Amino acid sequence: MNQKYEFTALGDFIDGQFRIPAQPDGEIALEDPGDLSALEGNVPFALSHVDHAVEAARGAYRGWRDLSANERAKHLKRFAAEIEAASSEFSETISRDVGKPLWETRGEVQAMIRKVDLTLDAGLKEVEDREFVMAPGQVARWRHHARGVLGVLGPFNFPGHLVHGHVIPALATGNTVVIKPSESAPMVAQLYVELARHAGLPDGVINLIHGDARSGARLAKHHDLAGVLFTGSYGVGRRILEDTLDQPWKLIALEMGGKNGVAVADDADLDAAAAAIAFGATATAGQRCSATSRVLAMHSIAEELTEKIRRLMSSITVGYALDEAAFMGPLISHAAKQRHADLLGWARNDAAECLLEGGPTEGPYAGHYVRPSLHRVASWDSESRYQAEEHFVPDVCVLSCDSFEEAIAYLDATEYGLSGSVFTKSRPRFEYAFRETRLGLLNWNTSTVGASSALPFGGLGKSGNDRPAAALSSVYCSYPVACVEMEEPTLPTQHPGFPKL
Ligand code: NAD
Ligand code: SIN
Repeated sequence: MNQKYEFTALGDFIDGQFRIPAQPDGEIALEDPGDLSALEGNVPFALSHVDHAVEAARGAYRGWRDLSANERAKHLKRFAAEIEAASSEFSETISRDVGKPLWETRGEVQAMIRKVDLTLDAGLKEVEDREFVMAPGQVARWRHHARGVLGVLGPFNFPGHLVHGHVIPALATGNTVVIKPSESAPMVAQLYVELARHAGLPDGVINLIHGDARSGARLAKHHDLAGVLFTGSYGVGRRILEDTLDQPWKLIALEMGGKNGVAVADDADLDAAAAAIAFGATATAGQRCSATSRVLAMHSIAEELTEKIRRLMSSITVGYALDEAAFMGPLISHAAKQRHADLLGWARNDAAECLLEGGPTEGPYAGHYVRPSLHRVASWDSESRYQAEEHFVPDVCVLSCDSFEEAIAYLDATEYGLSGSVFTKSRPRFEYAFRETRLGLLNWNTSTVGASSALPFGGLGKSGNDRPAAALSSVYCSYPVACVEMEEPTLPTQHPGFPKL
């Protein structure tokens, strides 16, 4: 057994105060997925707190919106400084909450710190006002307005970075927010708003409500919410769209799942390709929206490439998140571990050849540990549950292709459209892949994972509704207002039949 860890749940964070629900509607059980006996207790939640939090955010909205951009920037820089000062505690908290090893969670916290400057510099440039002279005395201005109160619904896999990735652009552009974090990461969410409080953000600008799907749905549907910034699965994103069908005025930004492939040509550096594939499949134990789960290899190199991937994936160090030697931690939950076991059966049903058994395994402590798995299929089947759906576990499926063009066609064959990569020495081949695929990210000779916050990040198809995040988040956090401005009013042009005063 690992050492027990004490956590005191402070409750929801509403209008600058932590509040424990007097009459909870439910509880979230605390769990360290890498050591099920390390954490005890739970976090109660109340659905009525959703309404209180939205009300607090509404109350704070005008004051925050009317600050100058510079004043808001000072607040956000202080927030980044608080996160930086707490970076060790922050990365350890992520590791305990969701089981990601320290090498990953340290990177996540660094990305959060950088996010603030990236937003204040490049992000806000995307929504800078523009103006031009339309006619003498008439200036046309293209100005941006904050939307109001935005709800941020977070996933478990990057519980700090992906909540923050919406919150910072939302606040920088003058909105206030209500966060509903993943129920798998309540400790990260609490620490996040504690740091916002230390930074002196005005009361009501950032609010937090804990809860499950019911709390998320209540927030998404709330009439006073101007927008939903969601990162999570396709199924839940679809549900949010259904729930808000009668609110067409509400901004719905959906960042959803992926079924991401790597196409490998016969001229590729196979060592580099194998390393990128094994890394992309096992980082965060396969629980990244951009994780590599499919390999489309040209026939002549498929055997050699597959063997290299197998060697790497079979030697991954699986361990407890706070153990510096661990490369891959556990999955998030018992259900996810069961999904990996089920996937091995679905692959068998598809007559997939199992090259690395993987699946549920013993870890250093009782937890949701698995080992990576590797399969080979003879043909692509768009109806196959194994081949076509996102599973969010460390598994790779290899398909051998007759030509580069066929590999690219299969790279693009799923209903998702998030990330992909192509390994080849030839730029024309990469440009061909760029033309022939519909993906939000297409990399050349590097992994499908590790998206840069300095680039847009969003997918097509089942991966997103065309509201790319990261570098472009400030765009959906505001709306453009067209203004024709005249200091001195002039009479409208005379048209035949229009009377004169
Ligand atoms: P999830 O969809 O289960 O949950 C996401 C959030 O939605 C949670 O806070 C949850 O409580 C909330 N929620 C659940 N039901 C809801 C409802 N009916 N209405 C409103 N909110 C509801 O996702 P997860 O398991 O936490 O995360 C994994 C998924 O997220 C994967 O599919 C992954 O690909 C995706 N993801 C996408 C991106 C991206 O940027 N495209 C990034 C990370 C993760
Ligand atoms: C994710 O947000 O799930 C993926 C981040 C990455 O591309 O590594």
